[in-house]
Amino acid sequence: MPRPAAGGRIGVLLGAMTLAEKIGQLTMQTADMAISGPGGLTSEYLDAVRAGGVGSMLNLWGAGRVRELQRIAVEETRLGIPLLFGFDVVHGHRTVFPVPLAEAAAFDSDLWERTARAAALEAAADGLSLTFAPMLDVARDPRWGRIVEGPGEDPLVARRFAAAKVRGFQGGDLAAHGSIAATAKHLVGYGAALAGRDYAQADISERELREVYLPPFADAVAAGAAAIMPSFNDLAGVPMTAHRPLLRDLLRGQWGFDGVLISDYNAIAELVQHGVAADFAEAAALALEAGVDIDMMAGAYTQGLPAALERRRIDVALVDEAVLRVLALKERLGLLDDPFGRGVEPSPGPEKAHRALAREAARRSLVLLKNDADVLPLREGARLAVIGPLADAPGEMRGSWYGAGPAEETVSILQGLRAALPEGSLVHARGVAIDGEGPEDIAAAVAAARAADIVLLCLGEAAAMSGEAACRAEPGLPGRQEELAEAVLAAGRPVVLLLACGRPLVASRIIARSAAVLVTWFPGSEGGHAVAEVLRGRANPSGRLPVSWPVATGQIPIFFARRPTGRPADPELHYTSKYLDVPTEPLFPFGHGLSYGRFALEDLRCSAGEVAAGGRLDIEVDLANEGTVAGLQTVFLFIRDPVASVARPVLELKGWQTAWLEPGDRTTLRFELPADELAFLGPDLAPLLEEGGIEILAGPSADRSLLLSTSVRVAKDREH
Ligand code: GLC
Repeated sequence: MPRPAAGGRIGVLLGAMTLAEKIGQLTMQTADMAISGPGGLTSEYLDAVRAGGVGSMLNLWGAGRVRELQRIAVEETRLGIPLLFGFDVVHGHRTVFPVPLAEAAAFDSDLWERTARAAALEAAADGLSLTFAPMLDVARDPRWGRIVEGPGEDPLVARRFAAAKVRGFQGGDLAAHGSIAATAKHLVGYGAALAGRDYAQADISERELREVYLPPFADAVAAGAAAIMPSFNDLAGVPMTAHRPLLRDLLRGQWGFDGVLISDYNAIAELVQHGVAADFAEAAALALEAGVDIDMMAGAYTQGLPAALERRRIDVALVDEAVLRVLALKERLGLLDDPFGRGVEPSPGPEKAHRALAREAARRSLVLLKNDADVLPLREGARLAVIGPLADAPGEMRGSWYGAGPAEETVSILQGLRAALPEGSLVHARGVAIDGEGPEDIAAAVAAARAADIVLLCLGEAAAMSGEAACRAEPGLPGRQEELAEAVLAAGRPVVLLLACGRPLVASRIIARSAAVLVTWFPGSEGGHAVAEVLRGRANPSGRLPVSWPVATGQIPIFFARRPTGRPADPELHYTSKYLDVPTEPLFPFGHGLSYGRFALEDLRCSAGEVAAGGRLDIEVDLANEGTVAGLQTVFLFIRDPVASVARPVLELKGWQTAWLEPGDRTTLRFELPADELAFLGPDLAPLLEEGGIEILAGPSADRSLLLSTSVRVAKDREH
């Protein structure tokens, strides 16, 4: 985006502004329709809007309400500058799609873009012009509640997710009435919070910062993200809200990002709690110097900037620069020409097409972890006992950050099954509450299990047990659910465990004793229908884990792209990197996910045995459906650099391909691997393509024992 021309229309506007009006444009005010930070709901903002003291709102939507407030801004303020309306449209607006961690399991950029596009249309119809999404924080610690909100543990998945979501939200023309500005968040390292505790410090090596946590944001900027939100955490002692080297020097200076930086909720004021600012004036100065344009709900700019200017702590030129960027965004959104373009009467209910898309996305996000003796799909006529607190919990199916999606428009697992099965096919018993002591009737649940052919045991978390400020030191089955599971398992019928969760749950004992395990995550508005389709075999599960699934909490953080160590784990050797009490490998690896089909992979081959700088490898592998069920199969491409000038991960994800195969079909999957994808950051953190052997691997997951492999050489660079 070109740097705002100070001489254009917005420059003229700036020239007419008082200091208070300039600071007003840098102030974002919450309203009374959702709570997303301390301080809660408020409707005390009309006077501030009329006085030109607010430039943007959050947590207010609905065409009528937006138009009325926009009218006040345009007609009753001195300069008539329209407001931006922002909201957390993270995985849907009125139609709720699967939570992002679930949608990541589809490994499908096209799907990710389509759901963002649908969400943008619904949000814009409700008068919104900006979303605080996509959330791009790589996360490898399931204790951290916000793992639910992002694309999982791998930077390549996060990079592709970033680009797809920005394209989907912003569309081809940001001024279009169906487009909303995307805010890539939270820059950076938020998912590496100490001990998985939200808002806690993050200490990341420069290498990990550049190889893992920053790349998704670089791709969001490259895709044209209109805004970015710094994260709450400090990074090696410097709070991101005041991190000049990363926000001003790297983001704006090197990457050329000229969009708007929106602080997180109250984050500028919290620089005082971080212990880097003595008061609001210093906090405001630090944030503005770092390049943060909009103060979300801190009041730090309103209260602190006049004093900072008074003290000559900062120059008004920094204020003007920020105001120009905010006005430039409003201009790009078409708000200066057409302030009422977004928001159609009446706010449309979830469109039919979006419901179908929500069902498709939910189907694609379900991950079948195990299926002993092919207990799934359910056989026709089987008598079912649908047991557990997540069976009939429609509101929970929305997950956290569910936007404007009404619980009553969300389909529970029980409702989905009842709609799909003949009358009398099932009995339902809740058994216990999701968490806490609550009313329980385990005996009735056991009785229902005994009377059935098969049990569908619906366990997991409440939606509010993941998301912001929802971290769990023991991310297992909450409340008395384990007790219910043990009792139901003791009834002796085959148990299909369905896990509604915002993170991989540590439930190894129950998982081991269940015949099948289907992760539903929080599947959104159409979740119940999608689950019923997969359980009945009307849809073949194809979701794959975007995160490693731990055996035990003590393994956390756990992820596949770890470095080898000098003493790789060997249970036979004492002095190796392992635990005495649990395995070092996850219960289920990144990429794991079963299908009702049976697929075979063979003959991995490269177009050449050697590749030089500037060259490209064309890699092929044959995939066959040797089963009797058609399905979608995803094959991952990894590399391993066994000897390099720095230790490289035991596996690095370099791509994936997905193919639909009918029974008996065969196909060849093709990957293009440019030589620079074999480069890495050398000891000096500069990109380095090093001569030597590289292992190329392909397979269904990061389980090395299932991967085909071949090797190529990176030729010596002739130019040196
Ligand atoms: C919250 C979240 C952020 C969200 C913002 C506005 O604190 O950290 O992700 O977009 O406030 O709701």
